[in-house]
Amino acid sequence: MSILVTGGAGFIGSNYILDWLAECDEPVINVDKLTYAGNPHNLAAVKDKHDGYSFVQCDINDYDQIVQLLKKHGIRAIVNFAAESHVDRSIHRPEDFIQTNIVGTYRLLEAAKEHWGALPEEDQEAFRFLHISTDEVYGSLEPDDPPFREGDCYRPNSPYSASKASSDHLVRAYHQTYGLPAIIVNCSNNYGPFQLPEKLIPMCIFNALSGDPIYIYGDGQQIRDWLYVKDHCKAIRLVLDQGLAGKTYNIGGEAEKTNLQVVHAICEILDRTTPGSGGNSYAEQIEFIKDRLGHDRRYAIDTTMIKNELGWKPDQTFEAGIEKTVAWYLANQDWVATATGVSYKTWVETHYKK
Ligand code: NAD
Ligand code: DAU
Repeated sequence: MSILVTGGAGFIGSNYILDWLAECDEPVINVDKLTYAGNPHNLAAVKDKHDGYSFVQCDINDYDQIVQLLKKHGIRAIVNFAAESHVDRSIHRPEDFIQTNIVGTYRLLEAAKEHWGALPEEDQEAFRFLHISTDEVYGSLEPDDPPFREGDCYRPNSPYSASKASSDHLVRAYHQTYGLPAIIVNCSNNYGPFQLPEKLIPMCIFNALSGDPIYIYGDGQQIRDWLYVKDHCKAIRLVLDQGLAGKTYNIGGEAEKTNLQVVHAICEILDRTTPGSGGNSYAEQIEFIKDRLGHDRRYAIDTTMIKNELGWKPDQTFEAGIEKTVAWYLANQDWVATATGVSYKTWVETHYKK
């Protein structure tokens, strides 16, 4: 038996595969289209070095190839990370988000249903389709609102979150209608190794060290809950192992911060560990720019369910996690170079400079 991970060359997926191979004996098949966000260097530690790892370049929209892979490898679980994940890109051009996040999830569900339907009864029961989703499907919170809970209404505000919400509804429907043993996890903002510098934390580290502006949208008072990616991977492993089919679990880092707090924390670490020439603080590179369209003001996650039912809690505080993350980026400048090539520069040019 093996598990199939989609989107495993991206940020969270690659952390998950590395974590899986370090913790479990079961082989993993990584199925990734290798869009601009997929980076094979994330998996350099296991490619051709670990018997339990194999990679297939494939689009989740490709029903025939996915069915073939599921059968060939005797897959007993699918963990679906594959998605277009960047809110700003979804505002510029929603098309890819509709095609991958909605249509792609639908095609993957169809392939999973085909494979699952042909399994012996006891294997059908044990089978899992684990769908990785986001807290953004719940919309935006006011300052005094309680954190998101699993039963909250969906109120997505961006093309990205609307496409993720649609995919969640499809996953839920495949469980309700066909009995496919599916589980959804909705998590908050991840950070840690291998995140492309199009997202806030790596953008801040990369631009600070490059001497470029650290871009803050609007007033920088938007709040996100920050989850260290390795804590997220551990939670997903636990949900895959012990989670109940048909359920949703919220996963969060219990670390609500404003964007400005996050950026100042990074600048303070860099000032201490890698002081710039001239004794200036990196915080002097902060530049406030036009706000993101439809910018959600606050996300927060109530983790009571996963804590009580599965005994999970985040191990990292934000302070410890951000220190490790900055240290990782400083020690892995070769990786950063692989992630900031022509397509990254084109995005920066299109999005920030124009
Ligand atoms: P990412 O953009 O870093 O990686 C996405 C990966 O999916 C890439 O390797 C890409 O090549 C692959 N992919 C894209 N379209 C594909 C397709 N059609 N077929 C096969 N592969 C395809 O994303 P991430 O930040 O690692 O996010 C992973 C998942 O977690 C996504 O579903 C995202 O919505 C969700 N999520 C992310 C965060 C976060 O903070 N990053 C938080 C909550 C939820
Ligand atoms: O909440 C979970 C979501 O977190 C995931 O579903 C998404 O896939 C993931 O990309 C992330 O979405 P955000 O939009 O919250 O992440 P991002 O890093 O793009 O932005 C975080 C905050 O920082 C947000 O309020 C916008 C702000 N920001 C971001 C960038 C890239 C800036 O102020 N300047 C920037 O240049």
